[in-house]
Amino acid sequence: MGKDLSKRVLTFLILISLLAVAMNLLSTVEAQNKKKPRRDVPLVKGLSWSFYQKACPKVESIIRKELKKVFKRDIGLAAAILRIHFHDCFVQGCEASVLLDGSASGPGEQSSIPNLTLRQAAFVVINNLRALVHKQCGQVVSCSDILALAARDSVVLVTKLSLSLQSNLFSGGPDYAVPLGRRDALAFASPNTTLNNLPPPFANASQLIADFANRNLNITDLVALSGGHTIGIAHCPSFTDRLYPNQDPTMNKSFANNLKRTCPTANSSNTQVNDIRSPDVFDNKYYVDLMNRQGLFTSDQDLFTDKRTRGIVESFAIDQKLFFDHFVVGMIKMGQMSVLTGSQGEIRANCSARNTESFMSVLEEGILEEALSMM
Ligand code: HEM
Ligand SMILES: *[C@@H]1O[C@H](CO)[C@@H](O)[C@H](O)[C@H]1NC(C)=O
Ligand SMILES: *[C@@H]1O[C@H](CO)[C@@H](O)[C@H](O)[C@H]1NC(C)=O
Ligand SMILES: *[C@@H]1O[C@H](CO)[C@@H](O)[C@H](O)[C@H]1NC(C)=O
Ligand SMILES: *[C@@H]1O[C@H](CO)[C@@H](O)[C@H](O)[C@H]1NC(C)=O
Ligand SMILES: *[C@@H]1O[C@H](CO)[C@@H](O)[C@H](O)[C@H]1NC(C)=O
Ligand SMILES: *[C@@H]1O[C@H](CO)[C@@H](O)[C@H](O)[C@H]1NC(C)=O
Ligand SMILES: *[C@@H]1O[C@H](CO)[C@@H](O)[C@H](O)[C@H]1NC(C)=O
Repeated sequence: MGKDLSKRVLTFLILISLLAVAMNLLSTVEAQNKKKPRRDVPLVKGLSWSFYQKACPKVESIIRKELKKVFKRDIGLAAAILRIHFHDCFVQGCEASVLLDGSASGPGEQSSIPNLTLRQAAFVVINNLRALVHKQCGQVVSCSDILALAARDSVVLVTKLSLSLQSNLFSGGPDYAVPLGRRDALAFASPNTTLNNLPPPFANASQLIADFANRNLNITDLVALSGGHTIGIAHCPSFTDRLYPNQDPTMNKSFANNLKRTCPTANSSNTQVNDIRSPDVFDNKYYVDLMNRQGLFTSDQDLFTDKRTRGIVESFAIDQKLFFDHFVVGMIKMGQMSVLTGSQGEIRANCSARNTESFMSVLEEGILEEALSMM
């Protein structure tokens, strides 16, 4: 009897301590991520909030640390990286096809029309991040995950760096946990596919709403994600259709006059900041611009003109927290579009080129299985 009881107690104690260890593990996973996962946004099958916990626990700190250095040299690269992630996701899904040399929007097809003006230096930054991460962990983290994390860090750091010069009125941009486990594509999209999948700057709200709806992004996501234009620049030909030959009547007159000085001809190679109020700060001023009819593209300004999106623009203009909250949700949704997971695609050894067969090593597959078994 007594023996039986002590056996039971022992089993009970072992179970309890196992449970404690498990809970401890879980909480360190969460702590590692620091940012609480948005459990209200569904995860796509194959992605997880703690994918590299075992295989590359430092991946996030490596990327953040390196980008801090990079943005100190050139803050414009933050906008460039955020835009590349958007282009990646909208064409074939977030699988780093945009990074491949020869991609219609990547560095390869210099002659592809239209020149999609993605900044070359940003592609170099992504490749350098990959090299740093792989030096630490081996060839286990995909280029698409590195790009998704770098885009998140761009949002976070573009705010902090530029504000550190000013007062500490603001608490910083939205930081958020990124679902991970993407794999890299084996091929890039044709120039036509690329063209057909990227909304043009002359699109109106109806077109944008339909386009985003096709991707399961609703009008709140559309307005929030367009807030990416709170940073970065545009080349004149992206918006001069609103100036020449006829001026867009929805454009603020004095704003139009300034733009004409920046772009004396429709095909001028000059650039204009997207957000005139705070071009290098990730904030809600983009929406204030729209309310003053100072949106740069038709695709921006029409979000204020259209009755379906106007209220959302106004709500973000007066409430930055609300904008940040919806931007994070939009980024997590966009960042999971048509991803490759599991044994699909590959982990590229060079973000600019697909692996040769010999790169598909036994090692990579082994680590993949380990990561999958943790989910
Ligand atoms: C809603 C549809 C969108 C359209 C029509 C659009 C269009 C454009 C265009 C035409 C440019 C300027 C390109 C140039 O002339 O150099 C641009 C820049 C930019 N876009 Fe978008 N975009 C859209 C959505 C997004 C989204 C969802 C994001 C990210 C969340 C984003 C982030 C950016 C950034 C950061 C830049 C500045 C890039 C730089 O400074 O290098 N855009 N966009
Ligand atoms: C786009 O054109 C500019 C200027 O002609 C050039 O410097 C840049 O490399 C081109 N970019 C791409 C992606 O083709
Ligand atoms: C690309 O699209 C254009 C018009 O959208 C079409 O004329 C052309 O034939 C297409 N090219 C290919 C290779 O599909
Ligand atoms: C939006 O653009 C499409 C295509 O150019 C056009 O057919 C439609 O009438 C426009 N809608 C509005 C409300 O301007
Ligand atoms: C869009 O979807 C998000 C959840 O992903 C939700 O919070 C938001 O209310 C939706 N907006 C509209 C207009 O349906
Ligand atoms: C710009 O357009 C003008 C008139 O349309 C033309 O004369 C000029 O050669 C063009 N410049 C470039 C760089 O394409
Ligand atoms: C145009 O911009 C000016 C300067 O920011 C602003 O005072 C004015 O209210 C704007 N006009 C409209 C119609 O929004
Ligand atoms: C990566 O691939 C690109 C495109 O093939 C090539 O130009 C570059 O030299 C490669 N980089 C490394 C480090 O091998």
